[in-house]
Amino acid sequence: MRPRRLRANPGIRRLASETRLHPAQLVLPLFVREEGGPMPIASMPGVVQHTLDSVRGAVQDAAAAGIGGVMLFGVPSVRDATGSGATHPDGILNRATRVVADEVGDALVVQTDLCLDEFTDHGHCGVLDALGRVDNDATLERYREMALVQAASGSALLGLSGMMDGQVAAVRETLDGAGFVDTAILAYSAKYASAFYGPFRDAVESTLDGDRRSYQLDPGNRREGLREAMLDIEEGADVVMVKPAGSYLDVLADVAAASDIPVWAYQVSGEYSMIEAAAMQGWIDRKRAVHESVLGIHRAGADVVLTYWATELAGWLNNGD
Ligand code: PBG
Repeated sequence: MRPRRLRANPGIRRLASETRLHPAQLVLPLFVREEGGPMPIASMPGVVQHTLDSVRGAVQDAAAAGIGGVMLFGVPSVRDATGSGATHPDGILNRATRVVADEVGDALVVQTDLCLDEFTDHGHCGVLDALGRVDNDATLERYREMALVQAASGSALLGLSGMMDGQVAAVRETLDGAGFVDTAILAYSAKYASAFYGPFRDAVESTLDGDRRSYQLDPGNRREGLREAMLDIEEGADVVMVKPAGSYLDVLADVAAASDIPVWAYQVSGEYSMIEAAAMQGWIDRKRAVHESVLGIHRAGADVVLTYWATELAGWLNNGD
Protein backbone atom coordinates (compact mmCIF):
# COMPACT_ATOMS: atom_id res chain seq x y z
CA MET A 1 0.00 0.00 0.00
CA ARG A 2 1.28 3.46 -0.90
CA PRO A 3 -0.95 6.09 0.67
CA ARG A 4 1.60 8.72 -0.36
CA ARG A 5 0.28 8.52 -3.95
CA LEU A 6 -2.55 10.83 -2.93
CA ARG A 7 -0.10 13.34 -1.41
CA ALA A 8 2.32 13.60 -4.32
CA ASN A 9 1.39 17.01 -5.74
CA PRO A 10 -0.97 19.93 -5.08
CA GLY A 11 -3.54 18.74 -7.64
CA ILE A 12 -3.99 15.28 -6.18
CA ARG A 13 -3.88 16.64 -2.63
CA ARG A 14 -6.69 19.01 -3.52
CA LEU A 15 -8.81 16.14 -4.87
CA ALA A 16 -8.05 13.96 -1.86
CA SER A 17 -8.92 16.66 0.66
CA GLU A 18 -11.66 15.46 3.02
CA THR A 19 -12.43 18.75 4.78
CA ARG A 20 -12.67 22.27 3.42
CA LEU A 21 -13.58 25.54 5.01
CA HIS A 22 -16.00 27.97 3.40
CA PRO A 23 -16.55 31.59 4.50
CA ALA A 24 -20.26 30.89 5.11
CA GLN A 25 -19.27 28.52 7.93
CA LEU A 26 -17.61 31.30 9.93
CA VAL A 27 -19.18 33.64 12.47
CA LEU A 28 -17.39 36.70 13.85
CA PRO A 29 -17.85 37.69 17.50
CA LEU A 30 -17.89 41.50 17.92
CA PHE A 31 -17.67 43.70 21.01
CA VAL A 32 -19.47 47.03 21.14
CA ARG A 33 -18.81 49.51 23.94
CA GLU A 34 -21.21 52.07 25.28
CA GLU A 35 -18.85 55.00 25.73
CA GLY A 36 -15.72 56.46 24.22
CA GLY A 37 -13.90 55.58 21.03
CA PRO A 38 -12.86 52.20 19.63
CA MET A 39 -10.49 50.51 22.09
CA PRO A 40 -7.90 47.83 21.42
CA ILE A 41 -8.15 44.79 23.72
CA ALA A 42 -4.67 44.30 25.17
CA SER A 43 -4.92 40.52 25.58
CA MET A 44 -6.42 40.01 22.10
CA PRO A 45 -4.09 41.77 19.65
CA GLY A 46 -6.04 42.69 16.52
CA VAL A 47 -9.46 42.66 18.24
CA VAL A 48 -11.13 45.89 19.38
CA GLN A 49 -14.11 47.03 21.36
CA HIS A 50 -16.11 48.86 18.71
CA THR A 51 -18.36 51.86 19.05
CA LEU A 52 -21.84 52.02 17.55
CA ASP A 53 -20.19 53.84 14.68
CA SER A 54 -17.06 51.76 14.07
CA VAL A 55 -19.02 48.49 14.20
CA ARG A 56 -20.68 49.47 10.92
CA GLY A 57 -17.38 49.19 9.04
CA ALA A 58 -16.56 45.87 10.71
CA VAL A 59 -19.84 44.30 9.64
CA GLN A 60 -19.51 45.70 6.12
CA ASP A 61 -16.08 44.04 5.86
CA ALA A 62 -17.49 40.81 7.27
CA ALA A 63 -20.35 40.83 4.77
CA ALA A 64 -17.98 41.59 1.89
CA ALA A 65 -15.85 38.58 2.90
CA GLY A 66 -18.98 36.41 2.76
CA ILE A 67 -18.96 35.08 6.32
CA GLY A 68 -22.15 33.61 7.77
CA GLY A 69 -22.92 36.01 10.58
CA VAL A 70 -21.81 38.07 13.54
CA MET A 71 -22.27 37.44 17.27
CA LEU A 72 -22.66 40.66 19.24
CA PHE A 73 -21.50 41.34 22.80
CA GLY A 74 -22.17 44.59 24.67
CA VAL A 75 -19.75 46.37 26.97
CA PRO A 76 -21.91 48.62 29.16
CA SER A 77 -20.54 51.54 31.12
CA VAL A 78 -22.80 50.94 34.13
CA ARG A 79 -23.56 47.57 35.77
CA ASP A 80 -25.89 46.53 38.58
CA ALA A 81 -27.01 43.45 40.51
CA THR A 82 -29.70 42.35 38.06
CA GLY A 83 -27.94 43.44 34.87
CA SER A 84 -30.68 45.90 33.97
CA GLY A 85 -28.71 47.20 30.97
CA ALA A 86 -29.35 43.85 29.30
CA THR A 87 -33.09 44.37 29.13
CA HIS A 88 -33.25 48.10 28.58
CA PRO A 89 -34.17 48.74 24.91
CA ASP A 90 -31.43 51.37 24.85
CA GLY A 91 -28.87 49.14 26.55
CA ILE A 92 -25.69 48.93 24.50
CA LEU A 93 -26.24 45.41 23.17
CA ASN A 94 -29.77 46.16 22.00
CA ARG A 95 -28.69 49.42 20.36
CA ALA A 96 -25.79 47.66 18.66
CA THR A 97 -28.17 44.98 17.40
CA ARG A 98 -30.41 47.60 15.77
CA VAL A 99 -27.41 49.33 14.20
CA VAL A 100 -25.95 46.10 12.82
CA ALA A 101 -29.31 44.76 11.62
CA ASP A 102 -29.89 48.07 9.85
CA GLU A 103 -26.42 47.99 8.28
CA VAL A 104 -26.24 44.39 7.04
CA GLY A 105 -29.41 42.61 8.12
CA ASP A 106 -29.75 40.59 4.92
CA ALA A 107 -26.10 39.82 4.23
CA LEU A 108 -25.24 38.42 7.64
CA VAL A 109 -27.20 36.58 10.32
CA VAL A 110 -27.26 38.96 13.27
CA GLN A 111 -26.77 37.06 16.54
CA THR A 112 -26.63 38.19 20.14
CA ASP A 113 -25.13 36.83 23.33
CA LEU A 114 -27.98 36.17 25.73
CA CYS A 115 -26.33 36.19 29.14
CA LEU A 116 -26.14 38.56 32.08
CA ASP A 117 -22.42 38.53 32.89
CA GLU A 118 -21.50 41.63 30.88
CA PHE A 119 -24.26 43.57 32.63
CA THR A 120 -24.02 42.50 36.28
CA ASP A 121 -21.79 44.27 38.79
CA HIS A 122 -20.81 40.91 40.35
CA GLY A 123 -19.96 39.49 36.92
CA HIS A 124 -22.00 36.29 37.16
CA CYS A 125 -24.16 34.99 34.33
CA GLY A 126 -27.29 35.20 36.47
CA VAL A 127 -28.84 36.98 39.41
CA LEU A 128 -27.83 36.00 42.93
CA ASP A 129 -29.93 34.73 45.84
CA ALA A 130 -29.68 35.99 49.43
CA LEU A 131 -26.65 33.76 50.03
CA GLY A 132 -24.81 35.01 46.95
CA ARG A 133 -25.41 31.89 44.87
CA VAL A 134 -26.50 32.10 41.22
CA ASP A 135 -30.28 31.62 41.33
CA ASN A 136 -31.22 29.43 38.36
CA ASP A 137 -34.96 30.06 38.15
CA ALA A 138 -34.84 33.77 38.94
CA THR A 139 -32.22 34.07 36.17
CA LEU A 140 -34.56 32.35 33.70
CA GLU A 141 -37.02 35.21 34.20
CA ARG A 142 -34.28 37.69 33.26
CA TYR A 143 -33.35 35.62 30.21
CA ARG A 144 -36.98 35.64 29.08
CA GLU A 145 -36.96 39.45 29.20
CA MET A 146 -33.62 39.59 27.39
CA ALA A 147 -34.94 37.31 24.66
CA LEU A 148 -37.88 39.60 23.97
CA VAL A 149 -35.83 42.78 23.74
CA GLN A 150 -33.11 41.14 21.63
CA ALA A 151 -35.63 39.67 19.21
CA ALA A 152 -37.42 43.01 18.97
CA SER A 153 -34.07 44.72 18.30
CA GLY A 154 -33.46 42.51 15.27
CA SER A 155 -31.42 39.56 16.49
CA ALA A 156 -32.21 36.50 14.38
CA LEU A 157 -30.37 33.96 16.53
CA LEU A 158 -30.13 34.21 20.30
CA GLY A 159 -26.95 32.75 21.78
CA LEU A 160 -27.92 31.32 25.16
CA SER A 161 -24.56 31.16 26.91
CA GLY A 162 -25.48 31.33 30.59
CA MET A 163 -25.66 27.58 31.35
CA MET A 164 -28.82 27.82 33.46
CA ASP A 165 -30.94 24.65 33.55
CA GLY A 166 -34.08 24.98 31.44
CA GLN A 167 -32.98 28.17 29.67
CA VAL A 168 -33.75 26.92 26.17
CA ALA A 169 -37.30 25.85 27.04
CA ALA A 170 -37.97 29.08 28.93
CA VAL A 171 -36.73 31.34 26.13
CA ARG A 172 -38.50 29.32 23.41
CA GLU A 173 -41.79 29.54 25.30
CA THR A 174 -41.45 33.28 25.77
CA LEU A 175 -40.48 33.93 22.15
CA ASP A 176 -43.37 31.85 20.82
CA GLY A 177 -45.83 33.47 23.21
CA ALA A 178 -44.85 36.91 21.90
CA GLY A 179 -45.05 35.91 18.24
CA PHE A 180 -41.28 35.66 17.66
CA VAL A 181 -41.72 32.17 16.24
CA ASP A 182 -38.96 32.66 13.66
CA THR A 183 -36.28 33.85 16.09
CA ALA A 184 -33.88 30.93 16.44
CA ILE A 185 -31.98 29.66 19.48
CA LEU A 186 -28.27 28.80 19.51
CA ALA A 187 -27.72 26.84 22.71
CA TYR A 188 -24.24 26.97 24.19
CA SER A 189 -24.97 23.46 25.40
CA ALA A 190 -21.61 22.11 26.37
CA LYS A 191 -19.93 25.16 27.79
CA TYR A 192 -17.01 24.28 30.01
CA ALA A 193 -15.61 26.26 32.97
CA SER A 194 -12.46 27.13 31.03
CA ALA A 195 -9.28 29.10 31.59
CA PHE A 196 -9.40 29.90 27.88
CA TYR A 197 -12.04 32.60 28.46
CA GLY A 198 -9.38 34.70 30.16
CA PRO A 199 -8.90 37.36 27.47
CA PHE A 200 -12.68 37.66 26.97
CA ARG A 201 -13.03 38.89 30.56
CA ASP A 202 -10.68 41.67 29.53
CA ALA A 203 -12.64 42.27 26.33
CA VAL A 204 -15.92 42.88 28.18
CA GLU A 205 -14.25 44.40 31.27
CA SER A 206 -15.77 41.69 33.44
CA THR A 207 -15.86 42.31 37.16
CA LEU A 208 -16.13 38.63 38.09
CA ASP A 209 -14.42 37.68 41.29
CA GLY A 210 -14.49 33.90 41.64
CA ASP A 211 -15.44 31.36 39.00
CA ARG A 212 -18.38 29.84 37.13
CA ARG A 213 -17.94 26.23 38.21
CA SER A 214 -21.40 25.99 39.77
CA TYR A 215 -23.00 26.35 36.34
CA GLN A 216 -20.42 25.70 33.59
CA LEU A 217 -19.21 22.15 32.95
CA ASP A 218 -16.23 20.45 34.56
CA PRO A 219 -13.47 20.23 31.90
CA GLY A 220 -13.05 16.51 32.61
CA ASN A 221 -16.64 15.59 31.78
CA ARG A 222 -17.22 14.20 28.33
CA ARG A 223 -20.52 12.34 28.81
CA GLU A 224 -22.03 15.33 30.53
CA GLY A 225 -21.29 17.53 27.51
CA LEU A 226 -23.30 15.20 25.31
CA ARG A 227 -26.10 15.04 27.88
CA GLU A 228 -26.38 18.84 27.97
CA ALA A 229 -26.61 18.97 24.17
CA MET A 230 -29.35 16.31 24.11
CA LEU A 231 -31.34 18.19 26.75
CA ASP A 232 -31.13 21.40 24.74
CA ILE A 233 -32.32 19.63 21.60
CA GLU A 234 -35.31 18.28 23.56
CA GLU A 235 -36.02 21.78 24.86
CA GLY A 236 -36.22 23.17 21.35
CA ALA A 237 -32.76 24.49 20.45
CA ASP A 238 -32.20 25.15 16.74
CA VAL A 239 -28.42 24.81 16.98
CA VAL A 240 -26.24 23.33 19.73
CA MET A 241 -22.70 24.43 20.46
CA VAL A 242 -19.56 23.19 22.16
CA LYS A 243 -17.24 25.73 23.77
CA PRO A 244 -14.27 26.14 23.94
CA ALA A 245 -13.44 24.24 20.77
CA GLY A 246 -9.80 23.17 20.52
CA SER A 247 -9.53 21.40 23.87
CA TYR A 248 -12.98 19.78 23.51
CA LEU A 249 -12.84 18.11 20.10
CA ASP A 250 -13.90 14.75 21.57
CA VAL A 251 -17.06 16.31 23.00
CA LEU A 252 -17.65 18.04 19.68
CA ALA A 253 -17.32 14.74 17.79
CA ASP A 254 -19.72 13.03 20.23
CA VAL A 255 -22.33 15.78 19.86
CA ALA A 256 -21.94 15.84 16.06
CA ALA A 257 -22.51 12.08 15.90
CA ALA A 258 -25.63 12.18 18.06
CA SER A 259 -27.29 15.43 16.98
CA ASP A 260 -29.94 15.80 14.31
CA ILE A 261 -29.63 19.59 14.32
CA PRO A 262 -26.61 21.76 13.39
CA VAL A 263 -23.60 21.66 15.71
CA TRP A 264 -21.37 24.68 16.06
CA ALA A 265 -18.22 25.37 18.06
CA TYR A 266 -16.73 28.53 19.58
CA GLN A 267 -12.99 29.02 19.22
CA VAL A 268 -12.69 31.26 22.25
CA SER A 269 -10.56 34.24 23.19
CA GLY A 270 -7.73 32.27 24.80
CA GLU A 271 -7.43 30.02 21.76
CA TYR A 272 -7.10 33.16 19.65
CA SER A 273 -4.59 34.86 21.91
CA MET A 274 -2.32 31.85 22.24
CA ILE A 275 -1.82 31.61 18.50
CA GLU A 276 -1.40 35.38 18.13
CA ALA A 277 1.17 35.46 20.94
CA ALA A 278 3.21 32.56 19.59
CA ALA A 279 3.10 34.04 16.09
CA MET A 280 4.31 37.41 17.40
CA GLN A 281 7.32 35.65 18.87
CA GLY A 282 7.98 34.07 15.49
CA TRP A 283 7.45 30.63 16.98
CA ILE A 284 4.70 29.49 14.62
CA ASP A 285 3.50 30.45 11.15
CA ARG A 286 0.46 32.58 11.97
CA LYS A 287 -1.54 32.01 8.82
CA ARG A 288 -1.05 28.25 8.78
CA ALA A 289 -1.77 27.94 12.49
CA VAL A 290 -4.97 29.98 12.20
CA HIS A 291 -6.20 27.92 9.26
CA GLU A 292 -5.28 24.59 10.83
CA SER A 293 -6.88 25.44 14.16
CA VAL A 294 -10.23 26.26 12.54
CA LEU A 295 -10.02 23.38 10.06
CA GLY A 296 -9.44 20.95 12.94
CA ILE A 297 -12.59 22.17 14.68
CA HIS A 298 -14.60 21.73 11.48
CA ARG A 299 -13.10 18.28 10.88
CA ALA A 300 -14.07 17.17 14.40
CA GLY A 301 -17.71 17.92 13.64
CA ALA A 302 -18.53 21.63 13.79
CA ASP A 303 -20.72 22.79 10.91
CA VAL A 304 -19.92 26.40 11.80
CA VAL A 305 -17.11 27.93 13.84
CA LEU A 306 -17.29 31.17 15.80
CA THR A 307 -13.81 32.64 15.52
CA TYR A 308 -12.21 36.06 15.98
CA TRP A 309 -10.39 35.41 12.69
CA ALA A 310 -13.63 34.95 10.69
CA THR A 311 -13.26 37.92 8.35
CA GLU A 312 -9.53 37.54 7.81
CA LEU A 313 -9.73 33.79 7.31
CA ALA A 314 -12.62 34.21 4.86
CA GLY A 315 -10.46 36.67 2.90
CA TRP A 316 -7.72 34.03 2.59
CA LEU A 317 -10.24 31.38 1.56
CA ASN A 318 -11.68 33.71 -1.08
CA ASN A 319 -8.18 34.27 -2.50
CA GLY A 320 -7.51 30.56 -2.60
CA ASP A 321 -4.70 30.72 -0.04
C1 PBG B 1 -20.90 34.69 28.45
C2 PBG B 1 -19.83 34.39 27.46
C3 PBG B 1 -18.46 34.19 27.70
C4 PBG B 1 -17.87 33.97 26.46
C5 PBG B 1 -18.88 34.03 25.51
N1 PBG B 1 -20.08 34.26 26.14
C6 PBG B 1 -17.70 34.31 28.96
C7 PBG B 1 -17.79 33.30 30.02
O1 PBG B 1 -18.65 32.43 30.02
O2 PBG B 1 -16.98 33.38 30.93
C8 PBG B 1 -16.41 33.70 26.22
C9 PBG B 1 -15.96 33.88 24.81
C10 PBG B 1 -14.49 33.91 24.64
O3 PBG B 1 -13.70 33.64 25.58
O4 PBG B 1 -14.06 34.21 23.52
N2 PBG B 1 -21.48 35.95 28.18
